[in-house]
Amino acid sequence: MCGIFAYLNYLTPKSRQEVLDLLVTGLKRLEYRGYDSTGVAIDSPDNKNIVMVKRTGKVKVLEEAIQEHFSGGEYSEPVLTHIGIAHTRWATHGVPCERNSHPHRSDEGNGFVVVHNGIITNYNDVKTFLSKRGYEFESDTDTEVFAKLVHHLWKTHPTYSFRELVEQAILQVEGAFAIAVKSKHFPGECVASRRSSPLLVGIKTKTRLATDHIPILYGKADDKKLNPDQDADSGKQQVLPRSESTSEFMPLEEKEVEYFFASDASAVIEHTNRVIYLEDDDVAAVRDGTLSIHRLKKSLDDPHAREITTLKMEIQQIMKGNYDYFMQKEIFEQPDSVVNTMRGRVRFDGNAIVLGGIKDYIPEIKRCRRLMLIGCGTSYHSAVATRQLLEELTELPVMVELASDFLDRNTPIFRDDVCFFISQSGETADTLMALRYCKQRGALIVGITNTVGSSICRESHCGVHINAGPEIGVASTKAYTSQFISLVMFALVMSEDRLSLQQRRLEILQALSKLADQIRAVLKLDSKVQELAKDLYQHKSLLIMGRGYNFATCLEGALKVKELTYMHSEGIMAGELKHGPLALVDDSMPVLMIVLRDPVYVKCMNALQQVTSRKGCPIIICEEGDEETQAFSSRHLEIPRTVDCLQGILTVIPMQLLSYHIAVLRGCDVDCPRNLAKSVTVE
Ligand code: G6P
Repeated sequence: MCGIFAYLNYLTPKSRQEVLDLLVTGLKRLEYRGYDSTGVAIDSPDNKNIVMVKRTGKVKVLEEAIQEHFSGGEYSEPVLTHIGIAHTRWATHGVPCERNSHPHRSDEGNGFVVVHNGIITNYNDVKTFLSKRGYEFESDTDTEVFAKLVHHLWKTHPTYSFRELVEQAILQVEGAFAIAVKSKHFPGECVASRRSSPLLVGIKTKTRLATDHIPILYGKADDKKLNPDQDADSGKQQVLPRSESTSEFMPLEEKEVEYFFASDASAVIEHTNRVIYLEDDDVAAVRDGTLSIHRLKKSLDDPHAREITTLKMEIQQIMKGNYDYFMQKEIFEQPDSVVNTMRGRVRFDGNAIVLGGIKDYIPEIKRCRRLMLIGCGTSYHSAVATRQLLEELTELPVMVELASDFLDRNTPIFRDDVCFFISQSGETADTLMALRYCKQRGALIVGITNTVGSSICRESHCGVHINAGPEIGVASTKAYTSQFISLVMFALVMSEDRLSLQQRRLEILQALSKLADQIRAVLKLDSKVQELAKDLYQHKSLLIMGRGYNFATCLEGALKVKELTYMHSEGIMAGELKHGPLALVDDSMPVLMIVLRDPVYVKCMNALQQVTSRKGCPIIICEEGDEETQAFSSRHLEIPRTVDCLQGILTVIPMQLLSYHIAVLRGCDVDCPRNLAKSVTVE
C-alpha cells in the first residue's frame, strides 16, 4: 500500500535532473504497491525552497510532468549534497487526486514535506490539536497531520534537531507508518521511520564499507502524549527525550555516500546491494552524510546495532526482459521458480528433504495440537490447496484461515498450536496482525514468505523462504506455486519416519522431480488458451468448478479472472453445485471445469453431467488423452498426469494464462489492475 522512496547524495555530485530520474525509477519499481497518484519533492535551484510535483495516475504521468517542469538549465547543474523524496499512492483517506497526493507539506512555505505508507489512526485527534493552534489542512489525508505536527514541534522546540522533531512526532501518532521527511530548515538531512509498514535503507559507497553494523542510539526520557484538548496557549512545553550513544559500534561516517530509503529492496538493487532493514520504531537519520539509528526506549532484548545485509537479488530479476508484462514473465518463470523452491532442500536420489529454516523445530511441531494455516488472497489459496495433503501426511487437524476473518473472530489459540503465516510479501497487515495475535498467545510461529527480511520473516520463530524470486505483477502467480511446493515439502518432512506413508512419499517425490518439465508442457498450451480467451473475453461472467485437490485452483483461477479482467468469476466447489450455483447454468453461461482422473473423478463427472443436462457447454481441463471426459466438453485443455496432490500446480497455470489473455483482450492493465495493490499494509 503506497511506495515510498527517498534519495540522498552526500558529497556525490548529482544534478537535480539526475536526482529526479533516480526518484522516478525508484517509484516505477514500487508501483506495484499502489498507482493511483504520485509525487516528488526536491530542492529549488536556489536551495532556498522545496519544489513539489504531484500527479493523479501512474508514475508515467508524473515522469512527463517532471520533464515539463524541470527542463531548465539550472536543473542540470550538479549539486554536491541533496535529498529528494517520492511517493506512489494507493488511496485510503481521500480520493486519488493531486491535492491528496504525497508529499504532504507542513505549511505554505513547504518547511517540512513528508511521504507516508500506512494509516495514522489517531489523525483526527492530532488534527484537532493542530487546528486549535491555527493549522489549516489542505488534503483529506491522514498523512498531512504528520507534516504539520513536525512543524508545530519545530516552532515550539527551536533547539531540537530534525531527527528529534520527527521522533517527537512519531511518539504522538498511532497506527501504521513508514515515513521519510525532508525539510528546508535542515538541508541535506533526511529522517525516516517505520512502524508496521516496511522500510529499508540502501547504502552506496565508492569503497568497501568500514562496518557491517550501525549502532542503535537510545533516548533517555519517557514519552509523553500531546493532549489534543489542551488549550493552545496553556500548559508548559513538554520535556522531550534526547538520544545518547550507548554502543560500542562505530557510526557510519563515509566521505562520499548515497542513501536510499525505500519500501522494498527492488527499488534499490540497481544502485546497491547493501541494505539495513529498519525495525518498528527505529528512526534513521542522515546528517552530514552520517547515518544513525535511534530508538526512544530500550528493551531488554534489543540488539546494540542494526546489521547491514547483502541482498541476493539480481537486477535482471526485476526487469521485464522480452515479455510484455511482468505477470506474463512470472507465469513463464515457473519451471525455474519451482526448482528454486526445492533447490538444496530436496534430494531426489536419497528421497530426503531438509528445510533448514524449520528443522530444529520439527520435534516440537510433531507434538502440537493442530496446524493453522493463515493468509490472504492467493496465499490463502495455497493453504487450501495443500490442506488435504497436510492432513494426510501429518495426521494432525489442519485449520485454514483467512487472516482478516481469523482476527474478527478472536479465534482461540493455544500454546501447543503451530501457526503458519503464508505471505508472498511478508508485509500484509492482516496476516501480520494475525501472527502477532498468535505469538502473544504462545503458539509456535512459522513464516512462509518470498521476501527475505520482511516483517513476517523477522517476527516468525522459524520458517521457509519460498525463493520464487521477486514477483512484481500485482496478481500473484509464481509465488503461489512456490508456496504450494513449500507446504508439500513440509508435509513430506513431517512424514519422514512414518513407515506406512513411505510409498506415498516416494510417489510425491518422484512427481516433484518431473514437475518443471510438466509445467513447461502446460505452458505450451499458451496459444490454445489465447484462442479460448478470444471466445470468453466479452462475457460478463465465468464459473470455474472442481473439487478435492483442484478446488483451490477454482478459487485461485476465479481470483485471477476478477483481479485482472474485472469480469465476475466464481470458484465453485463441484459438490456444492446442486445446492445453488446450478441455477446460474444455462446455454449462455461460460463454465470451466477441472476433471482429472483422481479419487473424486466420478463425483466430478456427476457435476459435469448436471451442467451439460442444463444445456451448459463446459470447457474442461483434463488429463492428456482422456477422450472419455473430453466427449462432454465444448473445448478442452489437456495437462500431463501427475500425482493427485500436485495436480493443482499444473491446473492453475492454464487459469493464470487465461486471465492474462482475457485481460489483454479487454485492454486492462495486466500488471497494475485498478483499485488493487500488491502489498496491502493496511488492515
Ligand atoms: C493483495 C494482492 C494479492 C495477494 C494478497 C496477499 O491482495 O493483490 O495478489 O495474494 O495481497 O499478499 P501476500 O503478500 O500476503 O501474499
